[in-house]
Amino acid sequence: MKYFLKLLIGLTLFQGCESNVDPPVILPAAAEVMFKTDRFTLESDARIVYDEAFEQAAFLLSQYTHLSTLSQNEAAAKETAFALRLDNALKGEQYRLDIRDQGIEIKAGTLSGAFRAAQTIRLLMPVSFEEEGSKAQSVELPLMSISDEPRFGYRGMHLDVSRHFFPVAFIKKYIDLMALLKFNVFHWHLTDDQGWRIETDKFPKLNTVGSFRKESLVGHYNDQPATYDGKRYGGYYSKADIREIVGFAQERGIEVIPEIDIPGHSSAILAAYPEFGCDNYNDTVATTWGVFDAILCPKPETFEFLDAIFDEILPLFPSNYVHIGGDEAVKTRWQKCSHCQGLIEQQDLKNEYELQSYFVQKVSDMLENKGKLIIGWGEILEGGLSAKASIMSWRGVEGGVTAAKAGMNAIMTPTSHCYFDYYQSEKESEPLAIGGFLPLQKVYEFNPIPDELNEKEAAYILGGQGNVWTEYLDTPQAVEYMAFPRMIALSEALWSQNNRKNFKNFANRLEQFKKRLDVLEVNYANHLYEIKGAFDETSDSPSYTLSTSLENQLIRFTTDGAVPTAKSMVFTEPIPVKQNTIIKALVFQNDVAVSDLFEQRIETHLGFGKLVTISPSPNTSYDSGGPQALLNGIGGSNKRFGDSEWLGFWGEDLSILIDLGEATQVQRLSTRFFNTNGQWVYAPKSISVQADGQTPIITPIHGKETIVDVQIPINQKTRYLKIMIPGYGIIPEHMQGGGNPAWTFIDELKIE
Ligand code: ACM
Ligand code: ZN
Repeated sequence: MKYFLKLLIGLTLFQGCESNVDPPVILPAAAEVMFKTDRFTLESDARIVYDEAFEQAAFLLSQYTHLSTLSQNEAAAKETAFALRLDNALKGEQYRLDIRDQGIEIKAGTLSGAFRAAQTIRLLMPVSFEEEGSKAQSVELPLMSISDEPRFGYRGMHLDVSRHFFPVAFIKKYIDLMALLKFNVFHWHLTDDQGWRIETDKFPKLNTVGSFRKESLVGHYNDQPATYDGKRYGGYYSKADIREIVGFAQERGIEVIPEIDIPGHSSAILAAYPEFGCDNYNDTVATTWGVFDAILCPKPETFEFLDAIFDEILPLFPSNYVHIGGDEAVKTRWQKCSHCQGLIEQQDLKNEYELQSYFVQKVSDMLENKGKLIIGWGEILEGGLSAKASIMSWRGVEGGVTAAKAGMNAIMTPTSHCYFDYYQSEKESEPLAIGGFLPLQKVYEFNPIPDELNEKEAAYILGGQGNVWTEYLDTPQAVEYMAFPRMIALSEALWSQNNRKNFKNFANRLEQFKKRLDVLEVNYANHLYEIKGAFDETSDSPSYTLSTSLENQLIRFTTDGAVPTAKSMVFTEPIPVKQNTIIKALVFQNDVAVSDLFEQRIETHLGFGKLVTISPSPNTSYDSGGPQALLNGIGGSNKRFGDSEWLGFWGEDLSILIDLGEATQVQRLSTRFFNTNGQWVYAPKSISVQADGQTPIITPIHGKETIVDVQIPINQKTRYLKIMIPGYGIIPEHMQGGGNPAWTFIDELKIE
């Protein structure tokens, strides 16, 4: 709290001064910021004097300030108005930044710290300084001192360049934006079923065959029938491109971790070199999305291939880490392959999961000999593994928890909070996305340390990462739209101390920050003025509240179906709901609507607002509406199971008890289940409903649609309804997520 007061006081003072300077917006928030009332003028002819160790950071500072630099050897330090000094008392990425009457002083103990400080200076400069060709001009700055360091040492952003391929200039822009937000790892997903994207001389068919696909899927993966665009698509980065990108990242203190996804996700490799697969399959570079059964066969020539390709490409990547994928390796070919089955017997392995471990362990040993450590997706834990690998936990935080408890390092990137390919708004006009729902606030509230870890275990959680899968993102603008502003929220989730976070404060800073994004020509999504609605949990009878992410916004609303005008009622307290109601609302500034129209239909029924208990509780990633979401008169989105109306359960059997308060004549109960198997979501196979004094009625469920409707006749008086829903069970091996438990997503329980 103290910190926010300081920051707010600082901003207020700053805005109150006569100045042509924009108020500084520090994102991600610094650990300690103290503003003072006086100001310092950084003259346009000032020079940045730097310690030799910080030459690269000084170079960046000169770009951001448009000032020239002078090494400490050449300058008399005391004359300087801008100094970048080495201070061995500071560790890692820590830095101090002081603006005093005499000038600016930055101190850091390492080049990484100096790099992060340079980004803070960038944020203190007017946004116009971001423009290419702009010249130094005098800048007035408030006196201040900043003491800053990250909460986590691993702050990553990922980009998939296999599903779609992006030009070098865009990769550099992405890395520059990462640097601005103090991220320090670029996880570059370079290979997948849909294309191999690294130049190689030793295996030329990886490029001539594996880097191109015949055509690409049009529309959503779930659309039937599937249609294709008929256009050859592909490309790869030359070694010179990769050197340029890695160098660009290094100059900004960002480590590039390449991912070579094996043994699954290998259609592109096997299209080029089928001999590294099991038997004689005829793979092609994939033209659609999803998971394929193409898998490398653990035979000597495959390991020789991997050894040779790693020898060729790893010198391009100075990182100590290589990401070897390991996700979604479908085992059906291994089950049928005589070599694989022979190996299982010879190595005394229990099954194909242990064969996967055998594979990963061999690759891990191979890379260790080359001086590299491996990172793999959570699946590499299956079947056991040595402790040297780091786990990237994506299906939830569970993989990371298992790793940490076993003394292995982990990076948290759960789909629920870190998958920026999910929808970020409930608006129907959003560009086509894979599915799911991950609004900005949920990203902001991401905490990579789950409650079940003690302090010692938590130390194995290195940090977190945002993932940008690009099945539905075919241009740089589309990538930017999904990444921004969510990666800004993630930067603060990972950099800033958890106990100081406040979403409204963040949203207000973000609103200011948009000016910088505009100058940087970032195509960000803008949902800050969007109105959100929810039932008020503190009211005795059902009452609906409206809010926005930004503070102090004027919301006007109607309940008669009309679009609100500047004369409509102002929202000040929860709106009581007793019958079917349509709430429409808009944010107004000076009598002009500035938001999109908010519209919520509430359909009351016998169960509306009544008591409901669910056992077990919904998964914490999909419980934002709470149990009451089942009886609030609001249906879930037809596209996004992650909204606050759908409740999600992972592999569990549910039992739900509804108490209508008194014996009530009930005709029927109806509900809906989400059913997008590509995303591991399955409607259950049956539902059982029991009214007072009756035996349960078990109704089988057959629907194949994206949303499966279920209606159960009751036709009697009852106070209680007891509902049992067995989970679907384990996903079949040939499907996406095969071998994992299926998710159940349930919507409103409508009682008539
Ligand atoms: C993943 O999303 N398959 C790691
Ligand atoms: Zn095989």
